[in-house]
Amino acid sequence: MKTIVIYKSRSGFTKQYATWIQEELCCDMTELKKHDQSLLLSYDTIIYGAGLYAVGINGISFIKDNFDKIKDKKIVVFTTGATPRRAHTIEEIKEANFTKEQQEHIRFFYLRGGFDFNKLSLLHKFMMMLMKMKLKMKKDKDADVKGMLNAYAHPADFTNKKNINEIIDYVRQFS
Ligand SMILES: Cc1cc2nc3c(=O)[nH]c(=O)nc-3n(C[C@H](O)[C@H](O)[C@H](O)COP(=O)(O)O)c2cc1C
Repeated sequence: MKTIVIYKSRSGFTKQYATWIQEELCCDMTELKKHDQSLLLSYDTIIYGAGLYAVGINGISFIKDNFDKIKDKKIVVFTTGATPRRAHTIEEIKEANFTKEQQEHIRFFYLRGGFDFNKLSLLHKFMMMLMKMKLKMKKDKDADVKGMLNAYAHPADFTNKKNINEIIDYVRQFS
């Protein structure tokens, strides 16, 4: 089975997971912007990974635009976010990013990434400052909110190689 990992990563968290997956599966890997579209159909398994931005998977239009061409292949999508992994969050991301048909064909995984304010673009810094103001105004700050506020001052990296195991096990079923 020929496999490729294609990723899009703004601050490096998704790139770290993509690299671990590529090393474990000994498969091809490319950044989305360097991907050679003419080779896409030569793969049996396509793994796409990207960061989560306001519940949207960065660059997911790449999978959606190619969906009809690749839906008979094994498609894996993983996203990395700053928030802890929870069943309702995963459902929310799936609903926001995929149609029902796409959900049936695409195996989706959520991996916890991290948050590094210093690595953000000016636009994202601005968006995150607005979010910080909203979080600070919350009366009852739960552990997630406190953790997020803390991450503005101290970069948080929750990446863990063990998190890729479920993706590796899933892909290996077909090889
Ligand atoms: C503007 C912005 C919006 C974000 N929205 C979310 C979100 O909705 N859920 C989440 O868990 N993390 C969110 N994050 C955190 C990123 O998903 C997290 O840092 C991710 O690991 C980034 O991956 P990358 O560096 O590979 O692009 C957001 C970060 C920024 C800057």
